[in-house]
Amino acid sequence: MRTNRTFTMLKPDAVENGHIGAILDHITKAGFKIVAMKYTKLSAESAGKFYEVHKERPFYNDLVSYMSSGPIVAAILEKDNAVEDFRKIIGATDPAKAEPGTIRNLYAKSIDANAVHGSDSDENAEIEGNFYFSTQEKF
Ligand code: CMP
Repeated sequence: MRTNRTFTMLKPDAVENGHIGAILDHITKAGFKIVAMKYTKLSAESAGKFYEVHKERPFYNDLVSYMSSGPIVAAILEKDNAVEDFRKIIGATDPAKAEPGTIRNLYAKSIDANAVHGSDSDENAEIEGNFYFSTQEKF
């Protein structure tokens, strides 16, 4: 399905390991325009809300605790077919299964510390972007 916006977070491992610049470079060179960006840290409560869709999954508590363990970079990205194309450049959720050259293949270590989040649908991209950014913060 074609769309023009998606949402991403550079996760605590990407920030901690000094990969913000390299990952943003990868993203912009792949043709994505940054329309909003924020360096921030989630509280456990906010991380729990953000990932509420996974509440029943066995990894939910670990995910919430991991995502609130350090600073992250949240961003809204624009490009034709943004959701699908972004998932292609980040690679599989489990970095061990991510295609060579994808962001998770290059920068991620484990399924939890997997460097980046990418929205899985247009609907979630909208919800997730609105979670972090007001209308005035999207350029
Ligand atoms: P993300 O794209 O941010 O969405 C949910 C996150 O849960 C996912 O990336 C992974 O980092 C994390 N996770 C941990 N275990 C699993 C699992 N078994 N399946 C899917 N996601 C998982």
